Amino acid sequence: MTGGEGLITNVSDTARWVAAYRATETARADALFRDPLAQRLAGERGHAIVAAAPRMLRGGWAVVTRTKLIDDLIATAIGEGCDRVLNLAAGLDTRPYRLDLPADFVWVEADLPALTTEKQAALADEKPHCTLIRRGVDLADPSALAQFLDAALGPLGPENSPATKALVLTEGLLMYLDEETVRTMATALTRPEISWWVMDITMAMRRIRASSMFVNAPLKFEPSNGIAYFEKLGWQPREVEHLLVRARKFHRAPWYLRPFTYLPQPNPRKPGRNPWSGIVRYQRG
Ligand SMILES: C[S@@+](CC[C@H](N)C(=O)[O-])C[C@H]1O[C@@H](n2cnc3c(N)ncnc32)[C@H](O)[C@@H]1O
Repeated sequence: MTGGEGLITNVSDTARWVAAYRATETARADALFRDPLAQRLAGERGHAIVAAAPRMLRGGWAVVTRTKLIDDLIATAIGEGCDRVLNLAAGLDTRPYRLDLPADFVWVEADLPALTTEKQAALADEKPHCTLIRRGVDLADPSALAQFLDAALGPLGPENSPATKALVLTEGLLMYLDEETVRTMATALTRPEISWWVMDITMAMRRIRASSMFVNAPLKFEPSNGIAYFEKLGWQPREVEHLLVRARKFHRAPWYLRPFTYLPQPNPRKPGRNPWSGIVRYQRG
C-alpha cells in the first residue's frame, strides 16, 4: 500500500508509526537503544504505517537517530542537575521504563487524552524505573497547558519538592502545531523552573508535507529562520545536532542520502530551500 491516508486517522496515530521504528531498531543486533515495549505499543498498525510511508522516511533513520540523540541529551542534562523531565506529546515513548534513571527521579508525560488512556492500559503491568506521572491534556489549548505546567512543575506528593531544573521535551510534536500555538507554548515554557527544552526541528520538507499520508495529521510548523525562531523567543541553543550527519555517523543514513552529509550543511538559522532536520537542546536565555 502507498499513501497511508487511511492509516493515520488522527495525529495520535503518528505515535504508533514512530514506535514501530523503535521496535525495528530494538530487534537489530547493533541496536543504538533497546525499547522492548515498542513492539507491543506500535501494534500492526504502526508497522502498516511504516510500510506506507514516503521512501525517505520508511527506513526510520530519522526517528532512530533522533531517539538516540535525545536519550543522550537527557542523560547529559541529568548529569547537570536536571530534576524533572516533562515529556510533552509523549506518545508511546517508553523512556521511563528503559533509561537508567534515579529511582526518585520524577518524569511527567502528557499527550491527548485518548492516547494517554490507551497507553496507560497497555503498560498497566510494567514498572517504570522512576516516578512516572501521566496526564491527558490538549497541549494546544493555552489554559490547559498552563494548568498542566503548574501541576507538573510543583510538588507531586507530600514527600516531593517542586522542580527547580526541569527539562521539557517536545519530540515529534511541534511540526503538527500551527505557528501561533508554538509561539504561545514557547512563552508558556519560559518560567524559572524550566532550564532546558529539547526539540526536533524539520525544515523545507516539501515532499514529505505533500504526502497523502499526512492528510489527517497535517505538517504545519516550519520556521523559515530555523533554530533562530526560538532564539527570538528567549531560548538559546546549547547543542544543535544535524540529524542526517549524525545518522551517517550512527550507520543509519540511507545510501542515497549519505553523499549529502559530506557537503557543507545548510545554515540551521537560514536553511533556504535546503531540507534540514536537527535536534536542539535550548536553555533559557
Ligand atoms: C509523532 S508522535 C511523537 C510521540 C513521541 N514524542 C515519540 O517521539 O514517540 C506525535 C504525538 O503528538 C501528540 N500530539 C499532537 N498534538 C497534540 C496536542 N495538541 N496535545 C497533546 N499531544 C498532542 C500525538 O498524540 C502524538 O502522540
